[in-house]
Amino acid sequence: MLLTVDRLKTYFHTSEGIIRAVDDVSFKIERGRILGIVGESGCGKSMTAMSIMRLVPSPGKIVGGNINFDGHDLLKLSNEEIRRLRGDRMAMIFQDPMTSLNPVFTIGEQIAEILRTHRGLKKSAALERTESLLQNVGIPDPARRIREYPHQMSGGMRQRVMIAMAISCEPSLIIADEPTTALDVTIQAQILRLLKGLTDSLNTALILISHDLGIIAETADEVGVMYAGKVVEYATTKELFANPLHPYTIGLLESIPRFGEVKEDRLRTIKGVVPKLSELPEGCKFNPRCKYVIEKCNNAEPELIDTGVGHLVRCWVDLNKSKSK
Ligand SMILES: Nc1ncnc2c1ncn2[C@@H]1O[C@H](COP(=O)(O)OP(=O)(O)OP(=O)(O)O)[C@@H](O)[C@H]1O
Ligand SMILES: [Mg+2]
Repeated sequence: MLLTVDRLKTYFHTSEGIIRAVDDVSFKIERGRILGIVGESGCGKSMTAMSIMRLVPSPGKIVGGNINFDGHDLLKLSNEEIRRLRGDRMAMIFQDPMTSLNPVFTIGEQIAEILRTHRGLKKSAALERTESLLQNVGIPDPARRIREYPHQMSGGMRQRVMIAMAISCEPSLIIADEPTTALDVTIQAQILRLLKGLTDSLNTALILISHDLGIIAETADEVGVMYAGKVVEYATTKELFANPLHPYTIGLLESIPRFGEVKEDRLRTIKGVVPKLSELPEGCKFNPRCKYVIEKCNNAEPELIDTGVGHLVRCWVDLNKSKSK
């Protein structure tokens, strides 16, 4: 297994109390596979990613669990060791490329810098490789583009540059955190196709984070649905869409717009809002918003249980059984 995240806990100790941003999250991913992580804003998707990269911002702290990456116990590595892995063996693509690109250097200089640092390439070799990387991510006329600054490029092109940077050292793991949220729909589809193609051709594992289950459906092999810091459902994409078992997943599925639907029809979003993580209810964290709620849900939190076919769900109500009746 390339990456195993086991019972990961990342908490923020704040004046409002302990915020359990990531609370007992486990999953695995193999090379060549795409794992989608989906959930509404604030459910802990980015903090899960940041924990794997060991980039959790203060006052956040990883307080429990294990992360094994390619034989490395990530939580035990020194800062220097983790820095060497980052960008080289594992890379992250952020939602907003402008925050990760440096405005005062050209695209070429920024990618070449990574190749010099991690791969020890000389200037001319680094530039040559940079050109071929830009070509790989579908940037036309790379010899010219290499001399451009980030602000001279469109959002879609900048995101391609970010992807080129992420794959520059051929990492075995890429985490893409909402890589297409800032882009319009056509460009979004192109970028997703590109990421999927690269996962195949480079045999990379990809963790794709999105709040949009539609994007996940088209791209991921497996899906983890997160709610309030926890994985509430986990299955292959095919299984999850054919047989969703958690009321939250069902709500997310119902809120995906379908082709031909009039606008009014598709406003079937889940009622209520994500609770503040410092003010979570007793029992199942989803209970105030759940339409299947029973007494038990208010008293005790369900475990994440395997229903038999590697389809895991954290819910007291057996929707599987009630469906087959
Ligand atoms: N600097 C911080 N201080 C305190 N709490 C924080 C901080 N950063 C994040 N959190 C908490 O961690 C939770 C999870 O944040 P995270 O960024 O992982 O959410 P997300 O699922 O990526 O949301 P989004 O879809 O908006 O990107 C948040 O709800 C917030 O309560
Ligand atoms: Mg996020």
